[in-house]
Amino acid sequence: MDWGMKNRMAQIIKPDTGRALMLAIDHGYFLGPTSGLEAPGKTISPLIPYCDSLMLTRGILRTSIDASIPTPIVLRVSGGTSILGDLSNEGITTTIKEAVRMNVAAVALSIFVGSEHEKETLLGLSDLINEGQEYGIPVLAVTAVGKEMGRDARYLGLASRIAAELGASIVKTYYCKDFNKVVNNCPVPIVIAGGKKLPEKEALEMAYAAVSDGAVGVDMGRNIFQSEAPVAMINAVRSVIHENAKPDKAYKLFLDLKKKNKSKKVKKK
Ligand code: 5RP
Repeated sequence: MDWGMKNRMAQIIKPDTGRALMLAIDHGYFLGPTSGLEAPGKTISPLIPYCDSLMLTRGILRTSIDASIPTPIVLRVSGGTSILGDLSNEGITTTIKEAVRMNVAAVALSIFVGSEHEKETLLGLSDLINEGQEYGIPVLAVTAVGKEMGRDARYLGLASRIAAELGASIVKTYYCKDFNKVVNNCPVPIVIAGGKKLPEKEALEMAYAAVSDGAVGVDMGRNIFQSEAPVAMINAVRSVIHENAKPDKAYKLFLDLKKKNKSKKVKKK
């Protein structure tokens, strides 16, 4: 790996623990207004000190995130579709020059293995990796799941392995039964998405199970920013990812921090 690539990877996967806590707030690129992200800058700024990297689109980065933050950026560069159409028909929306201009640590795009547009998205990934290689920018491939796509270890293992074979530096996929099989068949680091909002304890259990099965961490969105106590939740997730805290311990931390933050707000009034 070239120095620049190594340096960027080390910004995302922390060398001291070998783990990554990525905060995903890119949902609006196909969902439009997303609950919890109505004013992304406001929601996200208290969370920024606790994530290792931030995944988002250039529009939200430019309009809503303070350029002086040291947090590494993983730039979503695919899109062009919405929930009203065929989500798998994505293309590349943002050039690699733009990514360099924004000083990003990595670029991310979704692949839709098994969909009508499988080939285009896989060739899109390959093109992005070829460009990323020129500038030492790692590519994170998201194995998207849709109506016609599975969510089991066979499907996610297939999609993750193909992403790695094409040269992705990191794969983002979903947690599933027999997740260790997905990890064992993928030669590059894997992070999991959180998926739809779950009760906090269940989300912490999922994060713990994923890292126990070999994931390097999470790229989690809704289960953090839609939590009733987002700062408490990101700290609890952080304890799972970087301290191997068991779900019960992490959940206790969540409850303690939630209580503390509430009493602070009451005192402020
Ligand atoms: C969509 C994405 C989102 O960033 C991803 O789904 C992570 O967010 P969440 O934890 O809310 O699922 O990559 O393709």
